[in-house]
Amino acid sequence: MTRLDLSRRNLLLASAGLLVGCQRSASGGPPVTRTAYAAKPAAPSVLTARPAAGPAPTPSCHVTAANIEGPFYKAGAPERARLVQRQRGVPLVIEGVVRDADCQPIPGAWLDVWHADHDGAYDNDGFGLRGRLRADRGGRYRLETIVPGHYLNGPTYRPAHIHVKLFAPGFSPLTTQLYFPEDPYNEGDPFIVDSLVMAVDQSRGRREGHFDFSLASA
Ligand SMILES: [Fe+2]
Repeated sequence: MTRLDLSRRNLLLASAGLLVGCQRSASGGPPVTRTAYAAKPAAPSVLTARPAAGPAPTPSCHVTAANIEGPFYKAGAPERARLVQRQRGVPLVIEGVVRDADCQPIPGAWLDVWHADHDGAYDNDGFGLRGRLRADRGGRYRLETIVPGHYLNGPTYRPAHIHVKLFAPGFSPLTTQLYFPEDPYNEGDPFIVDSLVMAVDQSRGRREGHFDFSLASA
C-alpha cells in the first residue's frame, strides 16, 4: 500500500469515527441531540464538499422590537413623507428599508409616524409633525422632519424619540419608537431598547438617521 493510499484510508477512518462520535453519547447510550450544534451550518467536509442542491439559504433578520405607543397617537394623519412644515428645529432625515424576517423587502409597507416638536410638545389639536408614508417597491422609506425635544415623564425627561407604527398585509402590525445615540436621557429611561437606537450621521449639517425595520409574519 502506498503512502498516498494510507493517507486516504486514515482520512476515511477518521471521518467515520467523527460521525459515530456525533451520534452516540459518551456512555454508549442513545443518540444525543446537540441543538446548539445543529443550529449552525456545518462546514463542508473535504470528502463531501459539493454544490448544495436548491436555492441558497436566506439570512434571517431580527424582528424589530416593539415599544410603548404612549398617550399621543392620533389616527388619520395626512399622507406625507415630509412631516416638518413651519416648525423650527434641527433638520432630520431618516431612511431605511422595511423587511420581513428573511430580510426580504416589503413593498408598500405603511409607516405612521408622530413625534414631539423642538420643545418637547405634541400637536394634539392638529397633525403637526405627524404623517403616514409608504415604503417603495424595494421596501425603502425616507422621512423628513426635525429632531424632537425632550419632555417630562413624571420626574425625569424622556430621551428624544420618534414614534412609529408599521402595517403591511400578511404581517403583524408593529408599534415602536426610534431613539438617538448619545442622548443625555437615554441612560435611565425605562422604555429605551438598545436595538431601537438609530445610526445617526451629523457630518453634513443635519441629522441623518438610518434604521431598517423587520416585521414578523401574521
Ligand atoms: Fe413620546
